[in-house]
Amino acid sequence: MSTKTPRLISRRGVLARVAATVALAAGLAACSSPASAPAPGAAPAAGEPIVMGFSQVGAESGWRTANTKSIQDSAAAAGVELKFSDAQQKQENQIKAIRSFIQQKVDVIAFSPVVETGWDAVLLEAKRANIPVILTDRAVDSEDTTLYKTFLGSDFVAEGKKAGDWLVQNAPAGPVAVVELQGTTGAAPAIDRKEGFAEAIAANPNISVVASQTGDFTRSGGKQVMEAFLKSQPTINVVYAHNDDMALGAIEAIEAAGKVPGKDITIISVDAVKDGMTALSEGKINFIVECNPLLGPQLMDLAQKVVAGEPVPQRVVTEETTFTQEQAAEVLASRQY
Ligand code: AHR
Repeated sequence: MSTKTPRLISRRGVLARVAATVALAAGLAACSSPASAPAPGAAPAAGEPIVMGFSQVGAESGWRTANTKSIQDSAAAAGVELKFSDAQQKQENQIKAIRSFIQQKVDVIAFSPVVETGWDAVLLEAKRANIPVILTDRAVDSEDTTLYKTFLGSDFVAEGKKAGDWLVQNAPAGPVAVVELQGTTGAAPAIDRKEGFAEAIAANPNISVVASQTGDFTRSGGKQVMEAFLKSQPTINVVYAHNDDMALGAIEAIEAAGKVPGKDITIISVDAVKDGMTALSEGKINFIVECNPLLGPQLMDLAQKVVAGEPVPQRVVTEETTFTQEQAAEVLASRQY
């Protein structure tokens, strides 16, 4: 399991700590105010549902759709009142949504940050309002880990490493020219999956990443970038896609170029959503590393605990596996998403 190390160590961190101390003082002052109306962040009255504000990245992929459904279904099952906001892959929309949740005095805020950096100010506002924050799916890059209660999600570096390890074991003969379809620039899974993969192939001089570009985690992005790669990189024999949607877009581009995906060009991706698993079982993808989107039940459980003031682990890592073509064919029918 990887632990994320802060990338922004600077005067900003010192300022954040000073501000955090001020926020703590403000929080204590809020706690000692008269209790006629519940203070923001106070546990809801007995019988009242917990109100959760959730800011979702968007609807960029099959994974994201399954993740949204899991959160909405689990909130309903747990009796949590969910205020759901779709940021359409824009950080500014997520910041606006979080500010609006603070104004509405929700009991808990959860969000999946579209990119890693730039969250300290708004998270400090939540902390000052005494509203606990839970990171789901993606991490933030902040030195101040008191700005959130816990981070629930995958180990993306480990996912990238599993993809690279498989390639090392199953590389086509001769020089291996990999093109990489990266996720959204600045997003934790894009940064970490790149890092894990690079680490896994590092000791193999016959494997090299000849081009790497973002396809923004979308099918259309994957297709467009792959079309350009096929023109500029005639020796490509492997695609490493940071998610299934981009791999599926790449398959369309490869077929349009008259090549056979999974045979002429080996394809490795991450997620294991239904469409990806179908392509894997059909031989068009060669290997998929699972990234589990069904975070809803664990998120509701953590939310209930933080609202009740109970301790929670700072990091909750999702359990995940990998799939070969044969394994995909076996489990496809029972796949939930
Ligand atoms: O953060 C998880 C990633 O985001 C998924 O792998 C990708 O499909 C999604 O868009």
